[in-house]
Amino acid sequence: MHETTPSVKPWAGRFNAPTDAFVEAFTASVDFDRRLYRYDIQGSIAHATMLARQGILSAAERETIVTGLEAVRARIEAGDFDWSIPLEDVHMNIESALTADIGEAGKKLHTGRSRNDQVATDVRLWLRDEIDIIRGEIVRLQWALLDLAEREAETILPGFTHLQVAQPITFGHHMLAWLEMLERDRERLADCRRRMNVMPLGAAALAGTTYPIDRHYTAKLLGFDRPAENSLDAVSDRDFAIEFTAGAAILMMHLSRFSEELILWSSAQFGFVELSDSFCTGSSIMPQKKNPDVPELVRGKSGRIFGHLMGLLTLMKSQPLAYNKDNQEDKEPLFDTVDNLKGCLKVYADMMGNVTCNRERMRAAAKQGFSTATDLADYLVRKGIAFRDAHEIVGKAVALGVREGRDLAELSLAELQGFSSEIGEDVFAVLTLEGSVAARDHIGGTAPAQVRAAIERARERLDVRGGDDAR
Ligand code: ARG
Repeated sequence: MHETTPSVKPWAGRFNAPTDAFVEAFTASVDFDRRLYRYDIQGSIAHATMLARQGILSAAERETIVTGLEAVRARIEAGDFDWSIPLEDVHMNIESALTADIGEAGKKLHTGRSRNDQVATDVRLWLRDEIDIIRGEIVRLQWALLDLAEREAETILPGFTHLQVAQPITFGHHMLAWLEMLERDRERLADCRRRMNVMPLGAAALAGTTYPIDRHYTAKLLGFDRPAENSLDAVSDRDFAIEFTAGAAILMMHLSRFSEELILWSSAQFGFVELSDSFCTGSSIMPQKKNPDVPELVRGKSGRIFGHLMGLLTLMKSQPLAYNKDNQEDKEPLFDTVDNLKGCLKVYADMMGNVTCNRERMRAAAKQGFSTATDLADYLVRKGIAFRDAHEIVGKAVALGVREGRDLAELSLAELQGFSSEIGEDVFAVLTLEGSVAARDHIGGTAPAQVRAAIERARERLDVRGGDDAR
């Protein structure tokens, strides 16, 4: 029988030959899963506390373990901890260090537990915190959009369909469209958090444990809503990781669309907005360049996050119950998703607080492309003409405008009356941009009054629910 020392693997008992050096490095996860250390220790403290309460450990042993784990945590945080590849992962590194420090009691910590339920618990604890941070960042971006929407509630720009000028809209209204997408993203993450907040601990390797454990108590200590119902599912379920990444992918899809607009809008051709210098970079060869790197990079980063979603789905596909080593591969895509998502949201919240609108350029663009043609058709309908006929009449007026290079508002009354005798002097009011947006005065419409009302409702929503309706 060998002595168990920190450098010997906790599972070495049945082995006769040492692990192949390459295999050791190949199977180790400590290089990346060490970032779970705080949650691993939190889970271990709760586990030991439950074991002591159930009489499985003595109170003194629990005390020694908890003090020892806290000391290990302090060492890790001080950068004074030797992470060991032969000890494979964060769990065995911490347990071995604990045992080296406190002796006998350390060897008892793993009673009634397996790394399988341990790692499933750690990742959930970690992701739960990250989701709260991410939801807070979404709220920060939403506040920035609300401020911008309020400032530009009356600013008119062309709205597009097919990237062709469609109808005039207000810039505030446009910003509130992004706000709505982000609101759904925030809800999706809250929903994911709610479903994932069940505790795997107690499932042990896969079948449960023979000790008289109290899983409800451990769950309460760790802030989980309840223990997971089924031990096989508890150790092997990674739905929560997939759901989170799916939510992240949808959010990134939104940010990539947003980015695309900012990139277009800040180009010389559009010139609708200017991003602050602090969020752009120059060119090493072309002195005139100011590139929208931030939105471009965010647009690009959507790719890796979509990839992680596909990676995690493929990781889980066809895995038989229960735990398989495959599952170790869940961490890097998750970590990368969290890091990049947080980065994108942070930079977006800061950037959107610093956008300058070129109101004249937007207005000039809205004046082109016959953006009030629908308003003229609606005007004719109000005069008793059927919509299809009105559409036809306006189409002919537009054709004249195209030939002559004039907008509808630049045609004379006599010219307009040539298309319909129903047209009167009052037509020019509906052909103005202000008249056009103000007329869409119902909930969800682009009228400045509606934008202001929507901002009020959104502010209330954010104030009341803030960043924590997940809890
Ligand atoms: N490092 C492993 C993981 O991330 C921990 C669980 C390993 N369990 C085992 N029996 N090999 O999934």
